[in-house]
Amino acid sequence: MALNSVKSSVVPQADLESFQACINSSTRILALLGAGLSASSGLPTFRGAGGLWRTHDATSLATPEAFSANPGLVWQFYSYRRHMALQAKPNPAHYALAELARRKDGFMTLSQNVDGLSPRANHPEDKLKLLHGSLFDVKCSDFFCNYAEKNNYTDPIVPALAIPTEDGSDPTTNENIAKRELDISDHNVPIPELDHSHLPKCPQCKQGLLRPGVVWFGEALPKKVLRDIDDWIEFSEKIDLIMVIGTSAKVYPAAAYVDEARAKGARVAVINMDRSHAPASGMRQGDWFFQGDAAQILPEILKSVIGEVKVDGDAAEGSAA
Ligand SMILES: *[C@@H]1O[C@H](CO)[C@@H](O)[C@H](O)[C@H]1NC(C)=O
Ligand SMILES: [Zn+2]
Repeated sequence: MALNSVKSSVVPQADLESFQACINSSTRILALLGAGLSASSGLPTFRGAGGLWRTHDATSLATPEAFSANPGLVWQFYSYRRHMALQAKPNPAHYALAELARRKDGFMTLSQNVDGLSPRANHPEDKLKLLHGSLFDVKCSDFFCNYAEKNNYTDPIVPALAIPTEDGSDPTTNENIAKRELDISDHNVPIPELDHSHLPKCPQCKQGLLRPGVVWFGEALPKKVLRDIDDWIEFSEKIDLIMVIGTSAKVYPAAAYVDEARAKGARVAVINMDRSHAPASGMRQGDWFFQGDAAQILPEILKSVIGEVKVDGDAAEGSAA
């Protein structure tokens, strides 16, 4: 483990002082995480208009209907995303939040990210609620089967999902694995047609296909996760602080959590690259807006609680902004 200090020039001093006074005395803190947190780990998010994977609109692949119609295509999209997420590394912001979770009992983290980077930064599991599931969870797609599995990092999850090579050579050699990282828009490499026999099967019912354990468009958020969050919020009359990190928090349920925290007295700290990403309820007197890269800002503004952020020598390499 190497100690990595982070440049401090990004944070306005006055803001920093009042924020640190607040976080030092806070006993109930929420953090809401979005794609911006992982941006400096270099992950493509496929969100928003024009998010393309090959020639496919990424949002059209993230539905239960798409999976029923063509599970081979949807699995290839998710296998690619699993692979990219495994190539990425947690950045100093992931480590800073994980350390805050260890230091502050009353800290709860709600993440909209499916990339597995917070778990890989050893964020305590009981203080990390994944609103949209994870690329590394898999579950049975059969309605009547409840099989689910967490933290499956096998890549590719089945051999047929190794990304194919142009010349038909073995896609699982190191050299070919390196090539498949290069270009997501490489239309020269055809997407093979995969049927049920190639795809991961449920080991429990032995009938259903396994599917990625992420929340698709049109699906409900995981009940247990929502219940855990409600329990945490209801546990006390007050919340001191909510940090809104790399997410615009304009849509359900993120926007609602900001409002609930405010209703319990919380001040709001926004950490975002983009000034226009204030919460739906707007900014109020006593809130903070730290504009910039979360990977630089979080280790700095949390320093009074967590000390210098410890980043794995390895993990630090992927964190350049
Ligand atoms: C992940 O899932 C695949 C497909 O079901 C399975 O073969 C593999 O053993 C799993 N990996 C781990 C680490 O459990
Ligand atoms: Zn099953």
